[in-house]
This record gives sequence, structure tokens and C-alpha cells, in this order.
Amino acid sequence: MNEKIDWSNLTFSYMKTDYNVRCTFKDGKWGEIEVSTDETINLHMAASCLHYGQEIFEGQKAFRGKDGKVRLFRIEENAKRMQNSAIGIKMEPIPTELFVEMAKKVIQLNERFIPPYGSGSSLYLRPLEIGISPRVGVNPADEYMFIIFATPVGPYFKDGFKPTKVAIYREFDRAAPLGTGRWKVGGNYACGMGATAKAKANGFSAALFLDPKEKKYLDECGPANFFAIKDNTYITPKSGSILPSITNMSLQQIARDLGLNVECRPIPVEELAEVQEAAECGTAAVATPIAEIYDEAMDHTYVIAKDGQPGPITTQLYNRLRGIQHGEVEDIHGWTTIIDL
Ligand SMILES: Cc1ncc(COP(=O)(O)O)c(C=O)c1O
Repeated sequence: MNEKIDWSNLTFSYMKTDYNVRCTFKDGKWGEIEVSTDETINLHMAASCLHYGQEIFEGQKAFRGKDGKVRLFRIEENAKRMQNSAIGIKMEPIPTELFVEMAKKVIQLNERFIPPYGSGSSLYLRPLEIGISPRVGVNPADEYMFIIFATPVGPYFKDGFKPTKVAIYREFDRAAPLGTGRWKVGGNYACGMGATAKAKANGFSAALFLDPKEKKYLDECGPANFFAIKDNTYITPKSGSILPSITNMSLQQIARDLGLNVECRPIPVEELAEVQEAAECGTAAVATPIAEIYDEAMDHTYVIAKDGQPGPITTQLYNRLRGIQHGEVEDIHGWTTIIDL
């Protein structure tokens, strides 16, 4: 254990750890797994990732449990989603076996950076794949580099499980039309930064995006999916322009386990007036309650948590999810992988 780190006060930011793991796809096959202490990569200036955005990434966490064991949560789902991302932009999909082996290895190599149980922190893994072949024509690379680095993190939102406020700004789009400039690299994330910066400057924790076509239905927040509780039903947006969140998928199952109904469907903005609870959910956000949602165009605030406290169902969902991840609640769905240390 690294003695110098203040585990309970970590933020969601990068900290150097001892090792990262890398693997290169070349001549039609993945090579050997390399262990590196280098935080930088040597990249061709014409690499396809730099110009045409051939870059994909994932994010997941390893948790130290009450029993001292270290668990990864639904790692195969991250592997599957990364394969879908690769297929979407003509990159080389990473086999699940290689993905899981490298995830385990980077945790083992950085064991002293896994935060202790009870600190509220965890070891975040960031797998990324980039196209590294030089390209000036718009063509996919034939060589790829896959890296996983690890960094200890605290809560994404500084107040942890305390309800936050988010804002809806209709002038922002997360998918940049090419007519606005050559800024495709980074896709939805880079395009969402303008709205997030505006939200933060106005005292909100995040922007809540609407569907890009009609700007009528809820999509998701910058770094997380959205769900609400309405009359014993867990409702969450069905949309082709949001990330299929593994946390959201898991919370839907937990909601069913708790006897709630689950609806995945388009949610009109105005329906926010009828919900009793709302939250942002994701690996980083876990399930962060939302107290208020400000719709700038309508100059209207939906007050969801009137007493400013997390709602009872969100609290139950949060506790059950965290409990499974930390080995305190029985993992009836077989979602966790214990890492040999
Ligand atoms: C845009 C976006 N939506 C949703 C999520 C949540 O996905 P997951 O639960 O798989 O972490 C994330 C990542 O945390 C994200 O970046």
C-alpha cells in the first residue's frame, strides 16, 4: 500500500502509477503483452488516431472489498462494448481474453495503488486503443496500439452521494456536424465540453443533453447516463445517441430485484415534473442523485429533491450496487471477478 496517498480525499483525476500494459496489432495479429513504466507514447505524426479520430476507450474500476479481496465489476461487458466501438470505426477489435488478461495484469502490477476499503476511492482502469499507421487519406489504420493504465480515483462529483444540480442547454450538440469545423477527433466527448464548461461556470455539476434531432427527449449527462424514479418505476432514456452504460444496465437489474418496474423509453423533458427521484449513473458517477434540473431555454427549474436529500429508492440502488462491488452484498448475478494478488 502506498503510504503517502490521502485515500479518502482523492478526486477523479490522473495520478502516476508504477506500470501500464500495452499490446500492438501488427501484420494481422496481436503481439505479446508489454509492461511499461513510460507514461508517454511515441506516435507517428500522421497516425490515423490524430487526424481521423481512430481512438476508442473504456473505463472501469477495481474495488478493494471488506474481505480484503479486489474485485472488477462486469469486465466482460467493457470488453464487449470496446469491440462494438472498434467495429463502429473500422478499428481492430480486442479479443475479450486479451482485454481481461491485461486488465488483471495492470491491477496486479499496481497493487500498492488500490485504495483501501472504506476510503470511498477505487483503482480506475482506462483501456484505450489507437490507430497508429500513418494516413493522410481517410482510411483505417492497419496497425493499432492497445494500452491499459490505472490510476486511483475518488468520486467524480466532489460531493459524492449528495444531490447535485444539472442544466439543459439546447444550443449544444454532442455530435459535431462537419460543417462546423474539422473537430471530429474525440467525438461526443470533445463536443460535449462546451456545454459542460457552461454548466460548471453556472454552478451546475453537469450538462444534461437532449436528443440531438428534436431536442425534446432526455439523453444523458456529459459523463453519465440518466435515470429517474416515477411511481415505483425506474425510467431511463432509450436513445441511439447515448452510451449504453454498464452501470445503468446493472441498476435496471437491481431495480427489478427490488421489485420495481423498469421502463427504457423516450422521456420528454416535461415528464421531469412528474418524477420523484433522479440521478446520473456510471462507473465514475456511480448513482449521483440530482436535486434540480434547470432548463435554460424555458427558464424553468424542475425541483426533484425538495428536501435536498437523496431519494429512498436511489439510496437503495446505490447501496446495493456498491455492496456488490465491495463484496458486502451477495453477487447473485455473477458480476464480479476477483483478482489474484
Ligand atoms: C458519456 C457517458 N455516458 C455514460 C457513462 C456510464 O457508462 P458505464 O456505466 O459503463 O461506466 C459514461 C462513463 O462512465 C460516459 O462517459
